[in-house]
Amino acid sequence: MDTKIITIKAPGGRLSEEDISGIQKAGEIIKNGGIVAFPTETVYGLGGDALSPESSKKIYAAKGRPSDNPLIVHISRIESLYEIAETVPDYAVKLAEVFWPGPLTMILKKKDIVPDETTGGLDTVAVRFPSDPVAKILINAAGGFVAAPSANISGRPSPTEAKYVIEDMNGRADAIIDGGGGEIGLESTIVDLTVQPPQILRPGFITSEMLGRVLGTEVETDKAIISPESGQKPRAPGMKYRHYAPRGELVIVEGENEAVVSGINEMIRSDKESGCRTGVMACDENAGRYDADVVKKTGPKGDQKEAAKRLYSILRSFDDEEVTKIYAESFEAEGFGEAIMNRLLKAAGHKIIKK
Ligand code: TXA
Ligand code: MG
Repeated sequence: MDTKIITIKAPGGRLSEEDISGIQKAGEIIKNGGIVAFPTETVYGLGGDALSPESSKKIYAAKGRPSDNPLIVHISRIESLYEIAETVPDYAVKLAEVFWPGPLTMILKKKDIVPDETTGGLDTVAVRFPSDPVAKILINAAGGFVAAPSANISGRPSPTEAKYVIEDMNGRADAIIDGGGGEIGLESTIVDLTVQPPQILRPGFITSEMLGRVLGTEVETDKAIISPESGQKPRAPGMKYRHYAPRGELVIVEGENEAVVSGINEMIRSDKESGCRTGVMACDENAGRYDADVVKKTGPKGDQKEAAKRLYSILRSFDDEEVTKIYAESFEAEGFGEAIMNRLLKAAGHKIIKK
């Protein structure tokens, strides 16, 4: 398949007439049954017509994704929610008013119009209204309902820049819109509104505290995500799969700062002796202190937004640099940090060393 690359001239800035018409043409491709990768404020998505079983099948095939793992339906106006959700409770309306457009996905009972192919056979549907202007124009032009998982090959880190989308999807998608890098860098928060109280199935930028404040009730995160040793199955099917992992072995190192730095350096020394190419993911303040072959900076210590934004591109760059042993400094799992640690733990296969 020949993949058309559509480049937005001023990503993040004002869209020109030419940009808009390019995005609209891409929307037509989706309307006609094709699949198009596009930027959102979280990560790039791989979009197809959410109401067409054939389009959803194409998305699964392009990603190499198991078909029991449902897709998120992206909309470009709040009212569209009523066309695909059987019931829209008051608290869904409240959340939509506060957080949409933005990085929040809501799970609701689905209407029959949403095919089983899109929801992986579930009777619920995940709905998200992204804030990225390119995504909004695309969804509109595509007919209003775009199913879009992250635009990576299944198992790889989600793409936060067009070059990674091209790496994974060139020849697999009909078109790729290059619209710069996502502001947030981690996938949307998923909240299940079919249970009471609502539950977070995947942490993200919109935290449980933020949701709780709007809903006036405690919102908890799916236990299976926090402690995988619980033996429970995550309620978002996608969270059970190995994910985000670089090819090298990744280990998280936790503890007091000085102990972490000297502990990692000690391990690096012995890894090098046994012929490993070593990498470290560290805050700016510590980066210069490591003796690894490759050191990647996550931003100033404690800056969660910067670390989230860089995480997936750092994980991918360890692959590009053929690193075989990687150490990551740990993050506080508070607020947005819960999402960072969730992704990092998955990427590390939950290998964590305490210093
Ligand atoms: O930020 C995002 O959400 C990005 C951008 C492109 O919008 N999309 C994204 O999609 O991350 P994906 O397919 O990579 O992740 C969707 C997650 C999976 O873990 C899936 O199992 C879960 O959402 N999911 C989808 N529909 C669901 C449902 N009805 N019930 C429970 N979990 C669901
Ligand atoms: Mg994904």
